[in-house]
Amino acid sequence: QRYRDMDSAEKMNPFAEQEAWEDHQIGKATLKFGAKNKQASDNYGFLFEDQIEFIKASVLAGDNYEDEMHAKPYQDSTGKSALDMLQEERKSLPIYSYRDELLKAVKDHQVLIIVGETGSGKTTQIPQYLHEAGYTKHGKVGCTQPRRVAAMSVSARVAQEMGVKLGHEVGYSIRFEDCTSEKTILKYMTDGMLLRELLGEPDLSSYSVIIVDEAHERTLHTDILFGLVKDIARARPDLKLLISSATMDAQKFSEFFDQAPIFMFPGRRYPVDICYTTAPEADYMDAAITAVLQIHVGEPLGDVLVFLPGQEEIETMEENLKQRIRGFGTKISELIICPIYGNLPSELQAKIFEPTPEGARKVVLATNIAETSLTIDGIKYVVDPGFSKLKSYNPRTGMESLLVTPISKASATQRTGRAGRTSPGKCFRLYTAYNYHNDLEENTMPEIQRTNLASVVLALKSLGINNLLNFDFMDPPPSEALIKALELLFALGALNQLGELTKVGRRMAEFPLDPMLSKMIVVSDKYKCSDEIISIAAMLSIGPSIFYRPKDKKVHADNAMMNFHVGNVGDHIALLKIYTSWKETNYSTQWCCENYIQVRSMKRARDIRDQLEGLLERVEIEISSNSNDLDSIRKCIVAGFFPHTAKLQKNGSYRTVKHPQTVHIHPASGLSQVLPRWVVYHELVLTSKEYMRQVTELKPEWLIEIAPHYYQLKDVEDAKSKNMPKTSGRAAM
Ligand code: CDP
Ligand code: MG
Repeated sequence: QRYRDMDSAEKMNPFAEQEAWEDHQIGKATLKFGAKNKQASDNYGFLFEDQIEFIKASVLAGDNYEDEMHAKPYQDSTGKSALDMLQEERKSLPIYSYRDELLKAVKDHQVLIIVGETGSGKTTQIPQYLHEAGYTKHGKVGCTQPRRVAAMSVSARVAQEMGVKLGHEVGYSIRFEDCTSEKTILKYMTDGMLLRELLGEPDLSSYSVIIVDEAHERTLHTDILFGLVKDIARARPDLKLLISSATMDAQKFSEFFDQAPIFMFPGRRYPVDICYTTAPEADYMDAAITAVLQIHVGEPLGDVLVFLPGQEEIETMEENLKQRIRGFGTKISELIICPIYGNLPSELQAKIFEPTPEGARKVVLATNIAETSLTIDGIKYVVDPGFSKLKSYNPRTGMESLLVTPISKASATQRTGRAGRTSPGKCFRLYTAYNYHNDLEENTMPEIQRTNLASVVLALKSLGINNLLNFDFMDPPPSEALIKALELLFALGALNQLGELTKVGRRMAEFPLDPMLSKMIVVSDKYKCSDEIISIAAMLSIGPSIFYRPKDKKVHADNAMMNFHVGNVGDHIALLKIYTSWKETNYSTQWCCENYIQVRSMKRARDIRDQLEGLLERVEIEISSNSNDLDSIRKCIVAGFFPHTAKLQKNGSYRTVKHPQTVHIHPASGLSQVLPRWVVYHELVLTSKEYMRQVTELKPEWLIEIAPHYYQLKDVEDAKSKNMPKTSGRAAM
């Protein structure tokens, strides 16, 4: 019981810090809360040998939950329309009671910080309130989201609530997918998309209100937007700016936006019991499965939300969980498994919001997206293994990696809160109370401080912001990271020696891609192979999930994949072959099935390719094709990716040429057995090792030819060294 007191003092309640905010409060929206302790008394039905032992560490109580018991659901026998029901549901959201006060605050202040708990209605309701109050008469209301899935799902919900077709009055815009029209007045978009829109409309004149939502997430693009919209708001007194956040760091937002007032409103909060494991878990995936089964068998009905680091973990757990359940036969009630992650196709996303059938239990396997961006009703149990996938960046080497990292205390708190939104709940933390108190950081480091900045620096430069050291950052990035980005853009020819944008840089900035990919496309003009290069760029943009490998047909699937690698052409050319072959079958679904290729990924690639083709026209690059000259295509790849080169070592590993580091060819690469002497790679991923993904062979003399400012003869001179291991076959050049 050592931790009981500490936990009750934990900032489970975003209003706990309210005294300190008094100066900035407005309205009556802020209520005082005191965390109550409720004695918990439950025993779990442990039925498993590998059961996890949890200790209950603390109980959180909400004050207002008695009053809210009647609020939901709406069982309606009078034949109300679905729209009526939705309207009533809107009125039951916590934010509804503060609607008028909020609108008054918006009227009185140009910039407003809005704080309210996740699920209280900020994202779906505020834009509608603004519309109802007339703010859409002279411009759009734009609302940014850090995640694509959130932008899509929230806009779909709002369209439904307003009874309009998605893409008409209410729409969304995410990279490579614009679901808006002339009619659109409420526009949800990723923060990255608003940044891109700024390039074409620097004063955002078509907007009357900008909502930077989920501000607490502090994504790179959100942080950059902070600086930009603050400046625009100063120049445009008619623009309203709302910064909306789920957590308590609002003070910082207020200070940044010239002491803008904070509008807080209380959410609904039911008590959530927090249970910790008594000992650390060796395998959090196993532990998560066990915890889900323990809940399913031992706890009253109610849906479960499991937080996992990424798509891969979610898919693995889905499969393993299904297997375990089959073992129980009809001894247990139905368990419906719903995955949700960023790349999940939209038709499958809706499934998580469907009501759970009576007697069954839903278990949602989610990434961090369910932490604050999406609210799923009916969740009563949260399983929190304590990890998320976090980008980290080493500015010295320029290496970016996505690592499974322990979450922060703030994240753990948010995750716990998900269990208590519609009824009292339980949160099972798969780590010990000691871990929680001693090992977790308070907050997650803002992305801007742990990422490659090349693409935002290019964007800022094209906005005419030349002196980045003077840019108004809420938290500045490390100066090495800024310098590294400038160096890369200079090496790619996007900036001149004075740090000014060049013609190449201006063309590159038109593409919503990483600068290296953009450079590859821009340079394809010179090598007369833009047709092939945009296909490759589109294929690289859909991510690694091109092939699928059914468990019982792995050999067939691998053979199908190897067909595209005949001649050891390298992964980029193999991607091109896949795309071209598919195109030759007139984009046939049947062909995809026969080749174990995900048709959905291919359709997306086609879509992206079409858009890249449109952008080529915009930067006045003609479509040219040179499909027989693979060397030109490879040189083009090198011209974009020359900082990503590696040389074979005697032991079969590779060493990156600049900033030497040991790396390996990813086992899924067509060249993983070939081991060419010199390679250029698309990206490094760190799993069990540092792997190069999407690899192509190059001739070292190309480096001197293409990037003489970056490579010197000494970097490539031992290319002809005789002590290299014999390779099993060199790529056909
Ligand atoms: O932004 P905030 O977290 O404050 O809440 P919200 O996203 O506006 O969600 C308000 C309500 O809308 C919740 O009860 C959600 O369950 C519901 N909602 C939904 O049913 N379907 C969606 N796609 C999004 C929200
Ligand atoms: Mg929200």
